[in-house]
Amino acid sequence: LNGDKSKFLALYERERMKVEERLNDALKNREPHSLYKPAVYILKSGGKRLRPLLVLFSAKAAGGKFSKAYNAAVAVELLHNFTLVHDDIMDNADKRRGRLTVHKKYDLSTAILAGDSLLSVAYEYLLKDSGDHLKEVLDSFTHGLVEVCEGQSMDKDFELLNEVSINEYILMIEKKTAAMAEMCCIIGANIACASKQEIKALAGFGKNIGIAFQIQDDLLDISANESEFGKFVGGDLVEGKKTYLFLKALEKSKGKDKKDFRGIIERKGIKLDEIPKFKALYCKLGVLEDARDEIIRYSNKALSKLKYLKKQEDRELFIWLTDSLIKRNR
Ligand code: IPE
Ligand code: IPE
Ligand code: MG
Ligand code: MG
Ligand code: MG
Repeated sequence: LNGDKSKFLALYERERMKVEERLNDALKNREPHSLYKPAVYILKSGGKRLRPLLVLFSAKAAGGKFSKAYNAAVAVELLHNFTLVHDDIMDNADKRRGRLTVHKKYDLSTAILAGDSLLSVAYEYLLKDSGDHLKEVLDSFTHGLVEVCEGQSMDKDFELLNEVSINEYILMIEKKTAAMAEMCCIIGANIACASKQEIKALAGFGKNIGIAFQIQDDLLDISANESEFGKFVGGDLVEGKKTYLFLKALEKSKGKDKKDFRGIIERKGIKLDEIPKFKALYCKLGVLEDARDEIIRYSNKALSKLKYLKKQEDRELFIWLTDSLIKRNR
């Protein structure tokens, strides 16, 4: 099993480097610099490149070649980076991937437009291939983007709501995060001319892994080591986000603790120096473990969708990927 693990890691790294090379080319020799310099700044700041790898692995699992999926892989990473730049504006975030966010490094208008340019070039890359399934690929990409906008809007709306249920939270993260993971798997599958059954299996995997991924992002937001995480730890509490941990804490707490959590909603967030107190409350209430349990539950649900894949080796690759995601610290 250990041998297999290093085999999958080597495959991931090899393909990640290929995506990296193509991302480097994507914005090369373009003008004006005022537009592309900040776009390159975010793009080359060292993301995990999970979404392009989902495209590539899904194409492989549907019997296709990596080589046919690189342009789409680049497109989804560009789209992802667009969402990050705009998300950081919306979330008042100063730090991303261990660096200043684009709107902090430059300014607001620069960041808005840099985001727009990333989205535009993403479509350019998607349209580079004229395979039989271009219509499906474009449909899926566009649907993913619409979902992200809806999810992000819900995320902002939730900041101001007194009552948000866990079900509503799940719907919100299905849209803001899981829809894009699902989209990546569907695009990869379509490029490889997958059967309906394979597309459905990979889509189900992507969606559930995306839900697990966002709950884990919520967990890392309070529990991570900041230099590894690359983002400001505690930011969700400061912004008054309705994360999985926050909603669980609200549900489980009693008396004074519950009043304190209610107070966060009233005050629309907390002060920086209150982060340790609320982290301690999260620990006391056991919501970090609750989040862990949910991450594992959705990860297993994701893996259960893969029974229609033809090759055991591809299933094992996704098992490895899921396992590495659960263990990630950034
Ligand atoms: C961050 O995505 C946004 C979320 C959906 C949580 P990633 O954690 O994949 O960010 P990078 O691309 O690796 O920086
Ligand atoms: C963002 O969720 C999801 C996106 C669509 C970008 P978060 O706001 O939690 O992502 P991070 O933590 O800032 O990366
Ligand atoms: Mg956000
Ligand atoms: Mg954010
Ligand atoms: Mg987050």
